[in-house]
Amino acid sequence: MTLIQELESRLGIALTATLGEPTAATVTAAADLRFGDYQSNAAMVLAKQQKANPRALAQQIIDALDLSGLATADIAGPGFINFRILPAAYASRAAALIRDERLGVPATGAGKTVVVDFSAPNVAKPMHVGHIRSTIIGDSLARIARFLGFKVIADNHIGDWGTQFGMIIYGWNHFLDEAALAADPIAELVRVYRKVNSLKEQPGVLDACKAELVKLQAGDDENLAIWRKCIEVSKCGLQKIYDRLGVKFDYWYGESHYNDRLAGLVDEFLEKGIARESNGAVCVFSNDSKPLEQDPFKVHKEEGWTDNPALIRKADGGFLYATTDLATIQFRIDEWQADHVWYVVGVPQQLHFRQLFDAAARWGKTGDFQHIEFGSILGDDRKLMKTRSGDSVGLIEVLEEAVERAAKAIAEKNPDLKGEEAAQIAEVVGIGAVKFAELSQNRLTDYVFSWDRMLALQGDTAPYLQYSHVRIRSIFRKLDGPFDATSVEIHLNEPAEIHLVRLLVRFGEVLPTILEDFRPNLLANYVLELARAFHSFFEACPVLKADEPTRSSRLALCELTSRTLKQGLHLLGIDVPERM
Ligand code: ARG
Repeated sequence: MTLIQELESRLGIALTATLGEPTAATVTAAADLRFGDYQSNAAMVLAKQQKANPRALAQQIIDALDLSGLATADIAGPGFINFRILPAAYASRAAALIRDERLGVPATGAGKTVVVDFSAPNVAKPMHVGHIRSTIIGDSLARIARFLGFKVIADNHIGDWGTQFGMIIYGWNHFLDEAALAADPIAELVRVYRKVNSLKEQPGVLDACKAELVKLQAGDDENLAIWRKCIEVSKCGLQKIYDRLGVKFDYWYGESHYNDRLAGLVDEFLEKGIARESNGAVCVFSNDSKPLEQDPFKVHKEEGWTDNPALIRKADGGFLYATTDLATIQFRIDEWQADHVWYVVGVPQQLHFRQLFDAAARWGKTGDFQHIEFGSILGDDRKLMKTRSGDSVGLIEVLEEAVERAAKAIAEKNPDLKGEEAAQIAEVVGIGAVKFAELSQNRLTDYVFSWDRMLALQGDTAPYLQYSHVRIRSIFRKLDGPFDATSVEIHLNEPAEIHLVRLLVRFGEVLPTILEDFRPNLLANYVLELARAFHSFFEACPVLKADEPTRSSRLALCELTSRTLKQGLHLLGIDVPERM
């Protein structure tokens, strides 16, 4: 049980006794530590229902509360009940955490399966900033869910069957540079795609591309072979990026995986009356009347329906993004028994997902579907981030530059580090910095990308956190032998010690709340607070120079802090170097 659960359980008993009927209430971490560690507004809420005086009711509840061995309580303001945890209770909690591999994190997801759909770039198109955000946020959410006990299926739903293949096959036949393809397949495919795109205006080119697409869709052997090769080399190139980022997928079931199911799906929708024909196309009309932030498809207006139909078959017989996504939902529910499907995709696809979830519900595919949307990354000029040549910035360029800058900073700070070791540290620090800059933001706000800010050693950055971890580990390097924290008794006297433990026990309380609204930034804030608490502790409380039993107790707290920090960073997808 977390401290919150323990307090809620004791509060529930007191409330039930006071009111004479089963009553529960929630406890939250206190907003202001001066008033205590945790608080509850139960008395205020219940007094309103009972038309009673909230402070008087709070007093009655406190009189009935048995907090022995755990906390003290008092009343504040209009009737808040504030709890202050006893140092002895914190000490025994800390000792229990040291022996707990899960660091006090409850398995709230046990028995549930979640599919996390993230990254999902389009083959032969460059991975842009939106894919960077999706990759980093999605990977972190998958890690967190896994740690909370969910069965997680990470699925990379790559765009491997779009209309872009008409252009790519045309370009492959006319402009492909085999050597360039071997050296950097993604870049070469993008070059070919761009080249054809620039020729679109020339007579015949677009028609030739369309003809290639029709051949491909009809199963032409030659075009299928080119298509397969494109997918293969692209996947290889992408895999290299994911390896570097430490991102793993269980499946790469891209759009093409569902090709066989699309025709039958549309027939079924027509038969069941979920979809109908409109101007030759097959549409699912949404009766969702919620106002949309963006509304690009104001086409079919009819009585009784809103004006946002999802097209699932074009008048020419072609299938669409929505058709594939419906087939994908069916597969994930039927084959994988998914309870939850999380789509980590930018805000511009809001309409698509709203229509999709609506159509799936009417099709009888039930589950918890979430569009986890995010805003844009802006450059210094507050416009969408671009490279010097004006292209949107690719992930690789960002990573390369981050690592290069980290290498420079490390060389300045610690010239003793050389060669392979220095390079490895730069990699971990540079990539960690990019990830943390992303994950410490509220995902919905557009954020301004700043190299200097994300790589600073002081500040809300990954390097600061990694450095904190290094600093803790360096304490243990000064010991003569290994240190076993598991049997140490914890003694808490100094305020800085108590504050450190206060944060350590919150790890298990913070993690589940992240998935309530899919906000890894809560974890980012938590690890920052923990690191700050450690530095204050380390300044105020001598560790190695302290006398026993304080010395061992403090060493054990260092050990627990380093494990919690490392685990927290790991869940953000960030590694920690041994030295830096
Ligand atoms: N490939 C799409 C894009 O780049 C993202 C796919 C997201 N996943 C999904 N199931 N629709 O915009």
